[in-house]
Amino acid sequence: MDHYAVFGNPIGQSKSPFIHSQFAMQCEERLTYEAMLAPLDGFADSWHRFVGLGGKGANVTVPFKEQAFLLADILSDRAQQAGAVNTLYIDKSGNLCGDNTDGIGLVADLNRLGFQLLGATLLLLGAGGASRGVIGPLLDAGVSKIVLANRTESKAIAIANSFDARVQACSFEQIATLQYALVINATSSGLSGERPQISAVHMQHCTLAYDMLYGPEPTPFLQWAQAQGVLHIADGLGMLLSQAAEAFYIWRGKRPDIEPVMALLKAQLF
Ligand code: ATR
Repeated sequence: MDHYAVFGNPIGQSKSPFIHSQFAMQCEERLTYEAMLAPLDGFADSWHRFVGLGGKGANVTVPFKEQAFLLADILSDRAQQAGAVNTLYIDKSGNLCGDNTDGIGLVADLNRLGFQLLGATLLLLGAGGASRGVIGPLLDAGVSKIVLANRTESKAIAIANSFDARVQACSFEQIATLQYALVINATSSGLSGERPQISAVHMQHCTLAYDMLYGPEPTPFLQWAQAQGVLHIADGLGMLLSQAAEAFYIWRGKRPDIEPVMALLKAQLF
């Protein structure tokens, strides 16, 4: 039986073992998948130990995605673009390969929600790892323009500089007044019960407000968006499941259906 894992610190809260065991059952694949708490200064050692015990692949979460990027022998284009790896596997020649499924996970979820990305102008809030990883796949999906706004403007500028003119950086105060059909919150503000302090003007044409975080209640950003009259809101549960489904596909060549697993997770969360 093949062994997989998710590495993080902390890791106790991870839904990945549940998600991947459900995917394995659905696809009739025999595998194990466990949560691995790696020491903050010991990710590489933990990974090598895991491989020594027969590990075939892993997901990598906070704070190890950049370390996994440095560890991999071969990087996919999307991992290179993101500067981070969330999926590791060993290929037939024994090379350690690093990929990143976060961005296509978001794109898959937006497609599932029926949002038309082709030609869209969108507002992306936050300039941390979560934001960096999704810009390339959003552009590849046909988005015309991404306004990347961050509390600390310099971090948004640094990210925008690695893309073309379709990505424009600014502070929250200087967001251009455009018709944003989609506003994505990629900040971690919800973890401290806050929302990004942007003007309600930017929500006027928004048909979908998306928060990469998820939880039993709508995040502060989603609650605020709803109060501004935004018709559709979605949290990051679908993105979590979709990035996991893409990782499963890389490892096993089968792409699971996320809907039944989402229903189970929602039942657990609420
Ligand atoms: P991640 O990898 O999850 O993106 P990160 O790299 O620590 O985490 O980035 C966190 C992001 O959330 C940053 O864009 C941060 O803004 P700053 O760069 O100004 O610090 C943003 N953030 C966190 N708390 C916030 C808050 N209360 N309001 C607005 N932005 C916030």
